Amino acid sequence: MTTPLDVEAIRKDFPLLEREIHGRRIVFLDSGASSLPPTQVTSAMTRYYESTHANVHRGVYATAEEATARYEAARVGVGRFLGTSAGADEVVFTKNCTESFNLLAKSWGAANLTSHDAVVLTEMEHHANIVPWQQLQQQVGFELRFIPVGDDYQLDLGDLDRLLEGAKLLSVTAMSNVLGTINPLKHLAARAHGAGALIAVDGAQSVPHLPTDVVGDDLDFLCFSAHKLYGPTGIGVLWAKAEHLAAMPAFLGGGGMIKDVRLDGFTAADGTQRFEAGTPPIAEAIGIHAAVDYLQGIGIEAVREHEQALTTYAFEALEAAFGDEVRIHGPGDGPGRGGVLSLTMGDIHAHDLAQVLDQVGVCVRPGHHCAKPLMRRFGLNATARASFGIYNDRDDVDVLVEGLADASRLFG
Ligand SMILES: Cc1ncc(COP(=O)(O)O)c(C=O)c1O
Repeated sequence: MTTPLDVEAIRKDFPLLEREIHGRRIVFLDSGASSLPPTQVTSAMTRYYESTHANVHRGVYATAEEATARYEAARVGVGRFLGTSAGADEVVFTKNCTESFNLLAKSWGAANLTSHDAVVLTEMEHHANIVPWQQLQQQVGFELRFIPVGDDYQLDLGDLDRLLEGAKLLSVTAMSNVLGTINPLKHLAARAHGAGALIAVDGAQSVPHLPTDVVGDDLDFLCFSAHKLYGPTGIGVLWAKAEHLAAMPAFLGGGGMIKDVRLDGFTAADGTQRFEAGTPPIAEAIGIHAAVDYLQGIGIEAVREHEQALTTYAFEALEAAFGDEVRIHGPGDGPGRGGVLSLTMGDIHAHDLAQVLDQVGVCVRPGHHCAKPLMRRFGLNATARASFGIYNDRDDVDVLVEGLADASRLFG
């Protein structure tokens, strides 16, 4: 049994929620784009700057060694949150999830893919897990294949064996940022491995909201950003099995990622440092460490249960208030989806919807959500996406319904 979230207490950790917008309290329903950081994260970063800050892996004075130790401890803490005790050797800090995929494509991909190979993606990927592969494809000429999405908003795995034939990598989102669909990672990993391919996972939407188990699910790579995980902007993670990292060439070049540099060449550093050229995001690493500690303190299972219950409440409230007038583009309520609701209301444009919602303090994200192939698949230009986090409760859903009713009156 998990302890239910004490949302009232949690909200006190997020000072931004005390702000009023247009005379209304903020109802923040945009955690899918970027979640708010709690004071536990921002004060850990401020404390670090005020008491410890120095560059890492360089100085020998006390604060420099302390900074290095804390930076390295962040890898271990993040690794633990992902279900592995090997974080020290497997967690690479990047700028964001997008850079993690670029690292993967430009390092592992460039070293392993030839014109005879194939990479399998899905139709529900964020551009971050499409464009880096397309860029590499332009250089190397391998085949890109896509697992289709069915009318039920689930991956259609009927043809997966054929799609995986001769493929070197399956790269798939754990949870769609548009539909909320949660994909069966363990099953997909087994199928990929059975076909001789590795599996990379986009955890941008899943790591903050669902338990992650890179070892239990037998994953090879996992990419995500701290800023959707109640952490700071400017830092992301590429987690990779140590054996893969050991065989991957460096990504960006410069200081910090080398063992030796001569005028006729360089030798790259071993381990995670090989992929971290230049001064890394040190305070941000302290921040992501504080964020995973904060979430671990609440309990990620409890987070999942809370957000699932809130999603159920939202489904019921929207159905009761609007019936068919509001459409939720994604799977029906249940364990196979997360707290991401992509909404359309009649033919009201998503931007208009978002602007009316802003008038009652509700923050949602209108647009194509950087998933244009998926939007095209469903004939959509834009949706207004409400996404839940640990600080949301039923009152927030009620204000969303109120705002949507305003939009219906205004445009209907
Ligand atoms: C599923 C998914 N993947 C990748 C990204 C890219 O994240 P970032 O912009 O932090 O690199 C996002 C962000 O919206 C996302 O939702």
